[in-house]
Amino acid sequence: MVKENTNTPKHIAIIMDGNGRWAKNKGLSRDQGHKEGKESAKEIVKTCAKIGVKNLTLFAFSTENWKRPKLEVDLLMSLLHNSLMSELKELKKNNIRLTIIGDISKIPIVISKLLKKICDETKDNNLMTLTLALSYGSRNEIINSVKNIADKVKNNIISVEKIDQSLINQHLYTRDLPDVDLMIRTSGEKRISNFLLWQSAYAELHFSDELWPDFKSEHLMSAITDYQNRERRFGKTSEQIT
Ligand code: FPP
Repeated sequence: MVKENTNTPKHIAIIMDGNGRWAKNKGLSRDQGHKEGKESAKEIVKTCAKIGVKNLTLFAFSTENWKRPKLEVDLLMSLLHNSLMSELKELKKNNIRLTIIGDISKIPIVISKLLKKICDETKDNNLMTLTLALSYGSRNEIINSVKNIADKVKNNIISVEKIDQSLINQHLYTRDLPDVDLMIRTSGEKRISNFLLWQSAYAELHFSDELWPDFKSEHLMSAITDYQNRERRFGKTSEQIT
């Protein structure tokens, strides 16, 4: 049973994996898998907003995903475009703010323009922040952060002594988000694939065997229950926590 309103993770990050295998198992095309994956994403967004999760970050497209066959990349981009068009109303109705992390300079211009418009139109919504990681890679994010800080040091805007965790946080794409409390990966793979490496330093990890199109609200609830039953010590002893 999920303990309502007590210890709800403030930030859940999800690696939505297994669309291709789901489709293959059913003798369908990979496109079909991604389309079903989109349905799971919609359900999980709604449920998170309903149960009081303040931040949900979905890994929708990695820097490495550009290496997939062009046809699949095009399909994923058009799925993203259509979803954005159809979901704007829902985001507004449900008081959800949309933000994007990643190198959106690589995203087709028609989509990046739409993304900017939706982020702008939902910027004052405050029930939940939904962040889509698009063309995202954590190592690139950290490299960018280091470059920006180095530039400021070079130009005497900040001194080397001022470099600490908080300053690095402020130079990441996720500067407005809290650290990840719970990271979920579906499809039975047990790795974090260059997703929010810095932000997940103390995240609880939950690996589900469900393929993403099969991952529904009940699986999310069981991941949250699992999270709530863990003891987060942040390097301290059990006694210090209690
Ligand atoms: C992983 O499955 C999924 C992706 C690379 C794309 C994620 C996209 C969606 C879930 C659909 C759209 C979502 C939004 C927010 C519009 P995979 O292709 O790696 O599966 P496999 O490992 O079984 O091949």
